[in-house]
Amino acid sequence: MSEAKGEKILVTGALGQIGTELVDSLRDKHGTSSVIASDIRSINEQNSTSKGPYVTLDVLDTDSIIKLCTDEDIGTVYHLAALLSATGEKNPELCRKVNVGGTISVFEAAKKCSLRVFSPSSIAVFGPDAPKHAPQVTDLNPTTVYGETKVSGESLAKEYGDNYGIDVRGIRYPGLISYKAPAGGGTTDYAVEIFSAAINHGYYECFVRPDTRLPMLYMDDAIKATLMLMDAQSDALGPSRAGYNIDCHSFTAKELADAISQEVDGFKCDFVPDVRQKYADSWPDSIDGSVAKKEWDWSPNYGLEAMVKAMLDGLSEEH
Ligand code: NAD
Ligand code: SER
Repeated sequence: MSEAKGEKILVTGALGQIGTELVDSLRDKHGTSSVIASDIRSINEQNSTSKGPYVTLDVLDTDSIIKLCTDEDIGTVYHLAALLSATGEKNPELCRKVNVGGTISVFEAAKKCSLRVFSPSSIAVFGPDAPKHAPQVTDLNPTTVYGETKVSGESLAKEYGDNYGIDVRGIRYPGLISYKAPAGGGTTDYAVEIFSAAINHGYYECFVRPDTRLPMLYMDDAIKATLMLMDAQSDALGPSRAGYNIDCHSFTAKELADAISQEVDGFKCDFVPDVRQKYADSWPDSIDGSVAKKEWDWSPNYGLEAMVKAMLDGLSEEH
């Protein structure tokens, strides 16, 4: 793998659910001025990301990415810009354009500017034919366009690694649960929205069936995993480096609602499935993270109960 030259970090899609928290963590670790946040949207002063350098950047604009990386001496890109599953299935063309085209732009910039790249994958790479406890290596036949773009992202990472020595790493994130920024249009958004609905209204209408079981992770753990993977020695990482399954938690929508009811008096949840049920049903119930455990020693800190408490405390403090 080639060595990254610059010291600074660029984050694409930085105003989203993950970027909002990843930028803060990277700035705590490397210094505020070393982390340039970017997104296609413009920023407002309420956003914590506005406390450091910010540029408006479309990831489809390869020349601007290369210019920025050259001018700012960028060494690593955390490439988060994408359309998530529910938004992506509504607009498959745009989903392919942003998710695959944007990833190629970033990888081309990596080739020109010797960058290391973090490029997240998703549990959406698995299709209904995969085992319900999905292993690291199995056939990847997703039935969503979003899932197809994530399989393409992993293949492109391998191609740029094999052919050009680019160090691309990625995690097949499960559904991520957090409160600092809204969820960005995914199928797992119910597991985020349910918390603010419980606090604000004592009621949530959930868009998947109560028995829908998916792999999930609290955002603090997702950020920790991301930083651990990027800190790992390159020669410790095997062929799964661009799309690791990671150990996380597996619970049904009803188990989540029940755990919230234990903490929020009178909370009631109804289940009214919509089109997102189909996407959820095509994904695994849980994933086997033993390769990530072996290669970079990953295990999560938060279980369901601790995550529910952290979410409710965090939201109450914000209010
Ligand atoms: P998000 O939707 O919250 O944020 C994505 C950001 O990308 C948005 O702020 C959006 O404005 C920006 N964006 C869209 N098009 C752009 C473009 N052309 N140029 C620049 N920016 C653009 O998504 P997220 O939840 O933060 O996810 C980040 C990454 O992690 C994505 O690749 C996603 O597929 C992956 N992922 C997320 C989850 C999850 O549960 N959040 C799970 C699995 C994988
Ligand atoms: N949480 C994401 C989604 O639901 C999975 O990649 O789209």
